[in-house]
Amino acid sequence: MEFTFYTANKIVFKRGAIKELAANIGGLGKKFLVLIDPAFVNTPVQATVVEQIASIGAACEIFSEVRGEPTVELVDEVAGLAAKQGCDAVISVGGGSNIDVGKAVAALLTNGGSALDYLEVVGKGKKVEKDPVPFIAVPTTAGTGSEVTKNSVIGSLTAGFKRSMRSDKMVATISIVDPELTLGCPKKVTANSGIDAMTHLIEAYITFRATPISDGLALKGIELAGKYLQRAVEDGSDIEAREGMSAAALIGGMAFANSGLGAAHGVGMAMGIKYHLPHGEACGIALPYVVELNADVAGEKLDKVGEALTGKRFDRPGEGTKACIDFLFKLNEAIGIPKDYKFLNVPREEIPSLAQGSLGTSMTSNPKKMDVEALTEFLSKIV
Ligand SMILES: [Fe+2]
Repeated sequence: MEFTFYTANKIVFKRGAIKELAANIGGLGKKFLVLIDPAFVNTPVQATVVEQIASIGAACEIFSEVRGEPTVELVDEVAGLAAKQGCDAVISVGGGSNIDVGKAVAALLTNGGSALDYLEVVGKGKKVEKDPVPFIAVPTTAGTGSEVTKNSVIGSLTAGFKRSMRSDKMVATISIVDPELTLGCPKKVTANSGIDAMTHLIEAYITFRATPISDGLALKGIELAGKYLQRAVEDGSDIEAREGMSAAALIGGMAFANSGLGAAHGVGMAMGIKYHLPHGEACGIALPYVVELNADVAGEKLDKVGEALTGKRFDRPGEGTKACIDFLFKLNEAIGIPKDYKFLNVPREEIPSLAQGSLGTSMTSNPKKMDVEALTEFLSKIV
């Protein structure tokens, strides 16, 4: 057995934790770049963040223009602004995109250059060699787990790619998870980000790269997401469900950052880029089919996933896996995730290139080995 485990240096999980920001960021910086989600501009949350920073004798620069998934251009623009303003620490208050921008900016502030230089596959292969400035992640959605992962997913609409800037040094200095911040998250975003978390958890659990640490985390997270995702979507004010999903997303991020993902993310990334689907929805559609696909190589673990999702015990091999697949199809239907990709009316001749596009980093961790031919066959049934 051999494994390494990275996560945020400190995680604070508490309802109302944002009000205790000052107690956690003292000494981390003199001028904070605050990336705040547009939905929180001029709200009590923004006022609290500004007050808390002032109370430790530090200044802040607010940036609230992270809309949609991050691009190279946006990350470079924000890094330039932060450098010009002399920021020596970064706080992201927002969803996964906002946190990914903050994480990349914190690394660029000490390492220089453009985000493109560091991107996997499409970049120049530049490494993050210097420690980033302190980075504090405060998620306002429950899904990506970006508050504890070591990569930023950055795309380019013009060049049509979505790739990672990744380094062990990029994990947040502190992750502050306040479930109350997710109370106002719209239904559709709750569903998409929640199914993203569920996909992280299941893929991180069944991958051949799983470790005893990621296994323990993922199985507990699957139980939480199974219990609370539908509730959080149906009633956004259900704080117990919101809290459960904040924990599930956090745990999912901790698990997959160390064990990798699988075919649902491989396929989801390709479909999401090509047809502009939200990341969570694109991956969530594939999830039940990917469970089916891996049933013969990861059956024992999938039986446990079925038990964690349903709270039932199954005696015979395969029963838990079947329960898992049924649960996921029903969950997707209940929270408004399409049952396959057929609504996109993709021309059949596009399928081989979508299969090729699915062969990213995530696919390398899938339990069942997949090549273009196998993926073409798989996609033909669901696209
Ligand atoms: Fe994801």
